[in-house]
Amino acid sequence: TPADTVNLAVIGGDGIGPEVVAEGLKVLEAVTGDSGPKIHTTEYDLGARRWHATGETLPDSVLDELRGHDAILLGAIGDPTVPSGVLERGVLLPLRFALQHYVNLRPAKLYPGVQSPLAVERVAPDGIDFVVVREGTEGPYVGNGGSLRTGTPQEIATEVSVNTRFGVERVVRDAFARAAARPRKHLTLVHKHNVLTHAGHLWRRTVEEVGAEFPDVETAYQHVDAATIFLATDPGRFDVIVTDNLFGDIITDIAAAIAGGIGLAASGNINPERTTPSMFEPVHGSAPDIAGQGKADPTATILSVSMLLEHLGRTEESARVERAVAADLAERGDRVCSTTEVGDAIASRL
Ligand code: NAI
Ligand code: MG
Repeated sequence: TPADTVNLAVIGGDGIGPEVVAEGLKVLEAVTGDSGPKIHTTEYDLGARRWHATGETLPDSVLDELRGHDAILLGAIGDPTVPSGVLERGVLLPLRFALQHYVNLRPAKLYPGVQSPLAVERVAPDGIDFVVVREGTEGPYVGNGGSLRTGTPQEIATEVSVNTRFGVERVVRDAFARAAARPRKHLTLVHKHNVLTHAGHLWRRTVEEVGAEFPDVETAYQHVDAATIFLATDPGRFDVIVTDNLFGDIITDIAAAIAGGIGLAASGNINPERTTPSMFEPVHGSAPDIAGQGKADPTATILSVSMLLEHLGRTEESARVERAVAADLAERGDRVCSTTEVGDAIASRL
C-alpha cells in the first residue's frame, strides 16, 4: 500500500549536494501538493563540515535516527579539504552497509531531446533504456584489507573482494525479478570469471540457478572489459545488468555518460525487504569544481526523487515527476540553465 505520510531524512552533504537536494525537495513538494502523501523532512548534517567541526563521520546516534525514517534523500559526500577515503569510508559506505542497501539501482535511459556523445541512431536505433543492478554491500568495497610497512619500499596492501552466496543470491534474485517485470525480460551478468575465477564462478552459478526460477528471462554474460566496449558500440543490447560492487561503480559512470551525462544519472540504494530506509541519490559526487556557483544540474537528484516515490509505492507521483523531467529535457535542449532554473521549470510542470 502506498505511504500516506513519509518521514524523509535529508542529507545534503558536501559541495553541490545541498544545492541539488534543494531542487529535489522543491519538486517533491510540488508533486505531492494537497493530494499526495504528507512529507516530513528532517535534515542531517553529515560530511566535511561536521568532520572539520567535530571529527565525527557517522555517529551511532545519527544512524539510529536514520533507521526510523521511511527513506533518505542524499546529495553527495566528499570534499577536497578532507583526506580521501575518510568521508567515503566513514559516511557513505557505512550507510549502505548498515542499512543493507544491497541493491544499488542505476537506470540509464536516454530521454528524447537529450544529446548522447554516441551516434545513437547508428549504435542504438531503438534507444538506450537499461538498468544496472549493482551489488551494494560486498565485493572489494567492504574494507577487508590492510597495509603493512606502509610508506616504505616494502609496502604491502591488500583489498580483498568479499562475495557470499547469500549476498550474491539476494541481489541476483532482485535483478531477475526486475528483468521479469520489464518488457524485454533480458538479464546480463557482467563479471570477469575467466580471471577472477573464485568470485566469478560463484556469480555465474548463482545466475544459472536463480535463472531457473525465471524461465521467461533470457540471460547473457559479458566480461566487464567487453561490456565497456558494448556500452559504447551497442548499448541497445542491454536491459538489466547485474554485477558486483566495483564493476557496477565503473560501468554506471559509462552508462551515465552515454545517456546524457552525469547530471542526469539517478540512483537508489535499496533494501528490498524494507526493514531499513532506502536511500536515493544522484550518481555524481560533490563536484567541488562547480560548487556554490549555481551551475549543478539537479535533474539527477529529481529523477532520484522519482525513484524514491516509486519505492514508497507512490507510482502515480513517481511517473508524474519522470514525465515532467522528460518534458523539461525535451524543451531544454542544449541550453545551459542554472540549478534553480531547472528545479523551477520541472516543479512548475507539476
Ligand atoms: P563528481 O561526480 O563530483 O564530478 C565529476 C565531474 O562531473 C566534475 O567535473 C563535476 O563538475 C561534474 N558534475 C558532477 N555532478 C554534476 C552536476 N549535477 N551537474 C553538472 N556537472 C556535474 O566526481 P569527483 O570529482 O570524482 O568527486 C568529487 C567528490 O565527490 C569526491 O570527494 C568523491 O569522493 C565524492 N563522490 C561522492 C559520491 C557520493 O556521495 N555518492 C559519488 C561520487 C563521488
Ligand atoms: Mg561512482
